[in-house]
Amino acid sequence: MARVFVSCPLPGDAVERLASEHDVVVGEEHVGIRGDAFARGAAAFEGLVALLTDRVDVALLAAMPRLRVVANVAVGVDNVDLGACRARGVAVTNTPGVLTEATADLAFGLLVAAARRIAEGDRLVRAGRFRGWTPSYLLGARVHGATLGIVGLGRIGQAMARRARGFGMKVLYAERRPLPAELGRALGATHTSLDDLFARADFVSLHCPLTADTRHLVDAGRLARMKPGAVLVNTARGGCVDEEALADALEHGPVAAAGLDVFEDEPRVHPRLLARDDVVLAPHIGSADRPTREAMARIAADNALAVLAGRPPLTPVT
Ligand code: DGY
Repeated sequence: MARVFVSCPLPGDAVERLASEHDVVVGEEHVGIRGDAFARGAAAFEGLVALLTDRVDVALLAAMPRLRVVANVAVGVDNVDLGACRARGVAVTNTPGVLTEATADLAFGLLVAAARRIAEGDRLVRAGRFRGWTPSYLLGARVHGATLGIVGLGRIGQAMARRARGFGMKVLYAERRPLPAELGRALGATHTSLDDLFARADFVSLHCPLTADTRHLVDAGRLARMKPGAVLVNTARGGCVDEEALADALEHGPVAAAGLDVFEDEPRVHPRLLARDDVVLAPHIGSADRPTREAMARIAADNALAVLAGRPPLTPVT
């Protein structure tokens, strides 16, 4: 029996599964590895079920000499120092696959909401400012038939492309290596360079991981290339976008609107974005449908169980 720290209560049966084989300590929501329960047992924990809000770095690894596995309850692992874990022989796992459709659902929802000003309209109605139908009231961008640029055509990007086809959109994608032509054709997605994608798309949706290469991938230069009236959607990681530059591009053009589920410094939201009616904001809920979150938690638990039993993890991060 090993000692395992689970950063906070998880949906579904994940904690029960772990506790049936190990001695489990569950941290507090919004506290996790920053709390006393963790500090008291850090030196003894062999397993860590971590959230994307937990920074697993050299200092944390030093405080956990017996650690064998970091099971991240997320597909993104930008919160984990992978090199330091590798050097220490600590396995790192994530939760790919199970959150694909939920995240694409939210990305498409943000796209439509930003284009058609749904959240802004909701605020107007609630404020008693809906004075009746007029031809020019709350005009937005057209989704059907528009061009969607997908940055990163992995699982979630592909799910986004499938949704776009249902809306009669043309799909461009930027990816270091183009997909096999047959898959590109099946998705109706055409490969192009990042700069060309930003110049041609009416909507740009980010589906890439946050790495040193993608930090501020959407910067002032790329934003300036966008078409007048273009819309940016980000359900990937806040760090992929220079938020100050986005606020400038919304204020002075060419960007007309944005739908954001993730932020550079969560839970803080850039005050200039908060103040804008043309930005639809969501609190990092891309994967937050119940079956998805239960599946993510279960995979994380099963990864930890496998490594602690000396078996290969189900979904290792390579
Ligand atoms: C992930 O898994 O990386 C997502 O951001 C969680 O919603």
